[in-house]
Amino acid sequence: MPTTPATAKDPEQTEETTDRSAVRTLLRLWPYVRPVRVRLFSAAFVAVLASCVGLVIPLVLKWMVDGPVADRDPAGVWLGALYLLLLGFAEALLFGLRRWLVARPLAGVEAAMRADLYRHLQRLPVAFHDRWASGQLLSRGTTDLMLLRMFLAFPLTFLLVNGVTIVVGVIIMLLQDWSLGLVILGPAIPVMVTCVVFEKRYAKVARRAQDQVGDLTTVVEESVLGIRIIKGFGRHRSQARAFRELSRTLRGTELRKAGLLATIWGVIVTLPEVAIGAALVLGAVQVADGELSAGTLVAFLSTALALRWPVDSIGFLLAMSQEAATATERYFEVMDQEPEEPTAAPATATTAVGDSSGLQFHDVRFRYPDAPKDSPPVLDHIDLHIRPGESMALVGATGSGKTTLTALVPRLHEVTSGRITLDGEDITHMSREELRSKVAVAFEEPTLFSAAVGDNVLMGAEDTAGTAELRRALAVAQADFVYALPQGTDTQVGEQGHSLSGGQRQRLALARAVVGRPRFLVLDDPLSALDVHTEAAVEAALRDVLADTTALIVAHRPSTVLLADRVALLSGGRIAAVGTHHELLRTNAEYAHLMAGTEEAAR
Ligand SMILES: Nc1ncnc2c1ncn2[C@@H]1O[C@H](COP(=O)(O)OP(=O)(O)O)[C@@H](O)[C@H]1O
Ligand SMILES: [Mg+2]
Repeated sequence: MPTTPATAKDPEQTEETTDRSAVRTLLRLWPYVRPVRVRLFSAAFVAVLASCVGLVIPLVLKWMVDGPVADRDPAGVWLGALYLLLLGFAEALLFGLRRWLVARPLAGVEAAMRADLYRHLQRLPVAFHDRWASGQLLSRGTTDLMLLRMFLAFPLTFLLVNGVTIVVGVIIMLLQDWSLGLVILGPAIPVMVTCVVFEKRYAKVARRAQDQVGDLTTVVEESVLGIRIIKGFGRHRSQARAFRELSRTLRGTELRKAGLLATIWGVIVTLPEVAIGAALVLGAVQVADGELSAGTLVAFLSTALALRWPVDSIGFLLAMSQEAATATERYFEVMDQEPEEPTAAPATATTAVGDSSGLQFHDVRFRYPDAPKDSPPVLDHIDLHIRPGESMALVGATGSGKTTLTALVPRLHEVTSGRITLDGEDITHMSREELRSKVAVAFEEPTLFSAAVGDNVLMGAEDTAGTAELRRALAVAQADFVYALPQGTDTQVGEQGHSLSGGQRQRLALARAVVGRPRFLVLDDPLSALDVHTEAAVEAALRDVLADTTALIVAHRPSTVLLADRVALLSGGRIAAVGTHHELLRTNAEYAHLMAGTEEAAR
């Protein structure tokens, strides 16, 4: 419910994910990066080149100080300045080229990964979506993928570039003056130790932050979708409180991230700075003693200063890499989920003998995958045979498992044991396309999409279906109101169809179920929101459709039940009785009780 603070966590997420190596995780990105590898490597090469060009600048300075400046030769100084300008220009140009090289391919990588995620989500079983909060999925498809693109654009290249730059720079410094070089190298070990320690902690906090973004997204999404309930019950305050709490938690986590980053940054910036200071003093003494040329000291110090940015940035480059590793992990947590297999076991020769046509349940048992192990199954020993062309009503108390039973036919859930056959063929032996072209469904909660009314209905048919089919389906579902909408069947449905009344949505969902003239029709109480007169009209029209369709219809009202040839009573997870409405009224007390009160309407 939207009003409870959504602490919904996806069950797969664990706190103990820090043992994994960031590198190994990030390597999983390779298949996506592979197509753009040439560009990426050339970009890295260009960046290394640019960085090394930057390192030549101190050498030119040295030449200027020891040469033209010492000799008071203005022409030489101008020439040096020109060299410096050209070098600076080349460096800028190369970095620009790098940006140009990576921008487009990386946007492509992000788009490809997002498309894969979306496709995968569509193929994951309903049971998966029951378990995972939608906000978690949403944040993986947006924030996490953005983090990945940023990682591929910056840290991946610059960890390499800066590494090379630092190594080359240090070698240059050691060549200038090895004793000063060693002074500069002094802080290397403490800095590295800090990095390693910090990386571990940061990984943990980064994961927490990203999961919390997912939780927050869930609350936002639920509040938007549930805005009517929230307003209707005046729960906006408690909803806002839930949001504030989550967002405060997230803020705390982000601050902890910032704190960790500040520590590493402090160490990484301060220690080298101290070393540079020490080298400056030592170098100045050496120059005064005449042991070192002024130019060498200038070159040495400007090299050291040129390395400041590459060293300083390592802290946040590592942080970004950690976040990217976490994002990769979260991305593949979803991608690693088993999708519905397109076809199950190879089609064995089905023993289609005698009376096996129609829709048949053979000793079906079902338990929700996430239900406790020792709980009784929702459905047990279900044996039911709906003959070809017959329509069977399914009646039972609330929570008796009617919706669950109907969901098994289009394989939204898989039976725990037993089998369901269509004309003798096990549904698990059909491809999903085949199954879904044979079976059409309409649920009590009619879900519509943000698309034209007509397109919503035609979702239930082959792509070739046109206006004629649409008109027929709308007529069966008594959905003539469509023609009175501003743009008729082209009218856009608002998000989730909330611009329509419940009864209107139900009729569109029913039209969607019948538009493809399915051989088998499964309707989960599709007329519940209709007034008695509309229901009667729908039923009259539906009777024609049902004449040559095998149908299973969940029903509450006797008027709907009377549509069907026979009735099955579901009770305690089992089929308690099967017969005509009048037989059951006479012989079954529970059935009579369920139908009581509305009985008069049936006569
Ligand atoms: N996704 C689910 N996960 C676990 N249990 C569920 C799920 N959906 C329904 N149930 C449980 O299964 C039982 C039957 O529910 P349902 O088939 O919706 O009943 P009906 O449609 O007859 O009212 C209920 O006890 C319900 O709590
Ligand atoms: Mg139900």
